Amino acid sequence: MAMMESAAPGPASPETPSVYVARRLPDEALAILQERFQVEIWPEAATPVPRDELLAKIKGKDGVLTLVTDRVDGEFLDAAGSRLRVVANMAVGVDNIDLEACRERGVIVTNTPDVLTETTADLVWALLLAAARRVVEGHLLIQRGQWKSWHPMFMTGQDVHGKVLGIVGAGRIGSAVARRAVGFNMNILYHNRRRNLDLEAAVGATYAQFDQLLQESDFVVCMLPLTAETAGRFGAREFALMKPTAVFVNASRGAIVDEDALVNALKTGQIWAAGLDVFAREPIGSDHPLLALPNCVCLPHIGSASVETRMAMATLAARNVAAVLSGQEPLTPVVQ
Ligand code: GLV
Repeated sequence: MAMMESAAPGPASPETPSVYVARRLPDEALAILQERFQVEIWPEAATPVPRDELLAKIKGKDGVLTLVTDRVDGEFLDAAGSRLRVVANMAVGVDNIDLEACRERGVIVTNTPDVLTETTADLVWALLLAAARRVVEGHLLIQRGQWKSWHPMFMTGQDVHGKVLGIVGAGRIGSAVARRAVGFNMNILYHNRRRNLDLEAAVGATYAQFDQLLQESDFVVCMLPLTAETAGRFGAREFALMKPTAVFVNASRGAIVDEDALVNALKTGQIWAAGLDVFAREPIGSDHPLLALPNCVCLPHIGSASVETRMAMATLAARNVAAVLSGQEPLTPVVQ
């Protein structure tokens, strides 16, 4: 027994790696870390750790589990120091992380792909259908006591079935969005850095140039990662190219869209409606101009927010930390 204890130092041993978890996660995920390491946790689930506190707490840590709300940059890496071996982001997107700075310092970065693909694609469809068929507007109308009668063109929206779906960014989630479109008998266009031959074979999707996709699609879904190249990709020019009946959906990152241009396009009828899960600066307040538009459905960045998927993301992030600090390969590396 004594031999076993010395062979496998518990969380209290001085050689045991130490981890900082930047948010209160479900117990099941924390247990993966607490069984093996010395773990400190920002105790709030709903509030991000203040920057000063984060920088102080990560000092000397071997691993840090971060969220999209935590910026991992040179300052963060300096504050952590040379022991840092892994930053595990509980998200598929890693735009909050300076990957190059991590690479230079030999810090492994991991994310949580795959586990959230189908859940996020479901939410894209919720936005698409809600915006096209005025679901939220209808609910609010009843709530305000404004439903007076059935009438021929009352609350008419846009059909979804049989229309053209254009997906910008046909990676994992974009492809899952496309698969669902088969049931709606849609023609699928996509635009991507590279041709996605699997998607073409699986659902008969057709590769299109960006402008062609904007001009021909009834539904334009943005699933691009946020990078220096994609920031501001959808602006006044792009909305002007879309059909006046087009519905625009964004469930990737808000900064890919010029929000002033989108407000203008929705107000002036340049496009029909939008469904947004993400915003340039989050959280947005109730006074955000997009919320004043009846043809814009806004959600608070909940693409992956099902109970099962958030549990899977939290445990995958924890398992990535555990793997690296136990000398194994990370499960889902971005930088290795
Ligand atoms: C959430 O936005 C994610 O990137 O997982």
